[in-house]
Amino acid sequence: MSVSLTLKNICRRFIKDNEEFLAVDNVNLEVTQGEFLTFLGPSGCGKTTTLRMIAGFETPSSGQILIDGVDITNVPANERGLGFVFQNYALFPHMTIFDNVAYGLKIRGESGETLAQKVREALALVGLSKAEHRYPNQLSGGEQQRVALARVLVLRPKLLLMDEPLSNLDAKLRLHMRTEIRRIQQTLGITCLYVTHDQKEALTMSDRIMVMHRGKIEQIGTPMQLYEDPATAFVADFIGQANLIEGKLESIESDGFGFISVSGRKLRARLGKQNPPTVGESAYLVVRPENLRPDAGSENFPVKVVNRLFEGDRIDYHVEIPGSTQTKPYSMSVPFLPGTTLIDVGQEIQAAFTPLAGVIIKR
Ligand SMILES: Nc1ncnc2c1ncn2[C@@H]1O[C@H](COP(=O)(O)OP(=O)(O)OP(=O)(O)O)[C@@H](O)[C@H]1O
Ligand SMILES: [Mg+2]
Repeated sequence: MSVSLTLKNICRRFIKDNEEFLAVDNVNLEVTQGEFLTFLGPSGCGKTTTLRMIAGFETPSSGQILIDGVDITNVPANERGLGFVFQNYALFPHMTIFDNVAYGLKIRGESGETLAQKVREALALVGLSKAEHRYPNQLSGGEQQRVALARVLVLRPKLLLMDEPLSNLDAKLRLHMRTEIRRIQQTLGITCLYVTHDQKEALTMSDRIMVMHRGKIEQIGTPMQLYEDPATAFVADFIGQANLIEGKLESIESDGFGFISVSGRKLRARLGKQNPPTVGESAYLVVRPENLRPDAGSENFPVKVVNRLFEGDRIDYHVEIPGSTQTKPYSMSVPFLPGTTLIDVGQEIQAAFTPLAGVIIKR
């Protein structure tokens, strides 16, 4: 697959409170043709700034941007041939849906039957064939966002850039639009860069995710890679829920596993592939709440139940390792099935997991 977009050592400096800081700090990235790549991270981590530099609305302080191998770092936004969909879709209220979608084509000098055909194709793609004569205020938020998408897609951009396009929609519509956007992107085979701080959105829609933190890349990988093999404690904690159990790496085995000591026990788990600790170094054992059980698993350590939350389909037990300095309890999420024996608060049990379900990373 050919490379569609390359970011080389991209930095963006801003002045905040009279001090210079790096909003985007040496970002390197290659996006393949047809890929759906998401920038994910907490508020202020530099997602929008990175996307705006790709779009040409913001200039990098240093570094290069290449599209299809051509350096476009200094090319104006309107000459880059990219499509941008914002959170705020801002359709022209006095124009019909047809005219809203046709607008960009008309500016390019297109008209007549070819123009009409392109507009109808774009509207069909977003499932709004019947809405062409209506006005924006006669459509729901989700429909308006789809018009905004059609308006950009009709121009066949080289890259589709989207910055939190779903954040103004209600929860149910957001879920629906996730699959819609993914379907449209797949149908067209268009390369898409998507910004969100919603990890579920990122996991469900993306081919790959770039996790950002304080302007830097924490990790780039497929959703499953990030979930199963987080490179850092930040990624483990940000993607899904994770117990970060403090320990020390005791030894490394040749098969990709290692032993970590946790409150006097040696526990076997996968050794993180991305950024593994060295023997003797302090480390985290990462175990997802659903993989920590009161019984099932060869590896276990003693805990005391400090809280029990009934969630219907599951029970979330909060547990602490007696005598440890941990600041917040770990979570053990157990399916609630008919006949499940409950564990009471105050009870001491063994928290267990299988070696495959735990991963050891740097602390
Ligand atoms: N024009 C600007 N001048 C000064 N600081 C800026 C400017 N634009 C952005 N910043 C700062 O740069 C940092 C990154 O901002 P950015 O908008 O890229 O974050 P984000 O990851 O998109 O966050 P959010 O999820 O809240 O949209 C923030 O600290 C922000 O305050
Ligand atoms: Mg933003």
